[in-house]
Amino acid sequence: MKSKEIANNLFYVGVNDRQKELFENLWPLPSGVSYNSYLLLDDKTVLIDTVDICYSDIFLKKTASVLNGRPLDYLIVNHMEPDHSGSIRLLRQQYPDVRIVGNSKTFGMLEGYHGITSGLHEVKEGDTLQVGSRELRFYMAPMVHWPEVMFTYDPKEKVLFSADAFGTYGTLDGGILDTEIHIAPFLEEMLRYYANIVGKYGNPVQKALQKLSALDIRTICSTHGPVWREHLAKAVSVYDRLSRYEGEEGVTIAYGSMYGHTEQMAEAIAYALAENGIKNIVMHNVSKTHASYILRDVFRYKGLIAGSPTYSNQLFPELESLLSKIEIREVKKRLFGYFGSFTWAGASLKRLAAFAERMNWEVVGEPVEQKQGLKNDTYEACLALGKAMADKLKEL
Ligand code: FEO
Repeated sequence: MKSKEIANNLFYVGVNDRQKELFENLWPLPSGVSYNSYLLLDDKTVLIDTVDICYSDIFLKKTASVLNGRPLDYLIVNHMEPDHSGSIRLLRQQYPDVRIVGNSKTFGMLEGYHGITSGLHEVKEGDTLQVGSRELRFYMAPMVHWPEVMFTYDPKEKVLFSADAFGTYGTLDGGILDTEIHIAPFLEEMLRYYANIVGKYGNPVQKALQKLSALDIRTICSTHGPVWREHLAKAVSVYDRLSRYEGEEGVTIAYGSMYGHTEQMAEAIAYALAENGIKNIVMHNVSKTHASYILRDVFRYKGLIAGSPTYSNQLFPELESLLSKIEIREVKKRLFGYFGSFTWAGASLKRLAAFAERMNWEVVGEPVEQKQGLKNDTYEACLALGKAMADKLKEL
């Protein structure tokens, strides 16, 4: 069994998941996902993270093949979420003498998930581990994505093992390094992965990036997606921009519509945005597009315009669900416009206004409310809302 050597004596032993429909049982995986694990051969042998339990058989075979009869000395656990820690118990059964390297938070989770309490080697911020010619260093990165997350750095080869950071959805179909593949689809899926999984943790990501800025890093080994080398700076800049909640010039229009009347308002707003020079306009019917993709666009673009019919004196349920996901992620600094409709009693507009207030977002343009079908004055008001958003974006 062949495993790619991605740097001197550093082998990729991760796996591809082409079966799971939903990551975390929430987020669609049309192109699957990889669980990356790396095996370092020096005087000591060191595995960095494992894989989802569903793939432990192939993972253990790959690991044994690279070890080629050598014992496994260390397992470094950068992240305990089960997509990476799921195979630890089986690994320990196969290599009972392996010492597990983590921090105090890692070990609490290791006991909770796997009942493992012995053979542990605890590290703290800045600690090192000599494994032969290399002295690995550890940096804590709490809340990038869980509290126990840490990064491992190899100063000799200038490789960073970054847990989920810089990860993407998408399987690795042959190529592992970014030099071997077309990266555009992975960069796109990096946005969606970030928005879905890491989006709430912008400040911790910024802190981690500041820590990394002091290191000379030539290769980034994330736990998902390609190994970054040639395009490393691009991957880091995407993370930097997203974690500062900097949006590009553009507008996401997210709307619910039962019979198309609210949708006509959205169409008018989009028309006015384009007429006034905005090229990045994405319209999402929240009943049709999974929230995973809408969140990606909310993180990508500076403008968000939301529309909702009044439904049982509330927001349209799918729109409400989307707004809740945005609120959980504490997305900052968006320009917000909104519109709504009703048949006999309107409630959506005041709920959208309350959402904007909770988010502390700037409201742009006059909110538009429509009773029953679209009339000329409502149509004109929608055009005015689209123009106001376009003008505001052009001012920035
Ligand atoms: Fe890929 Fe937070 O686990």
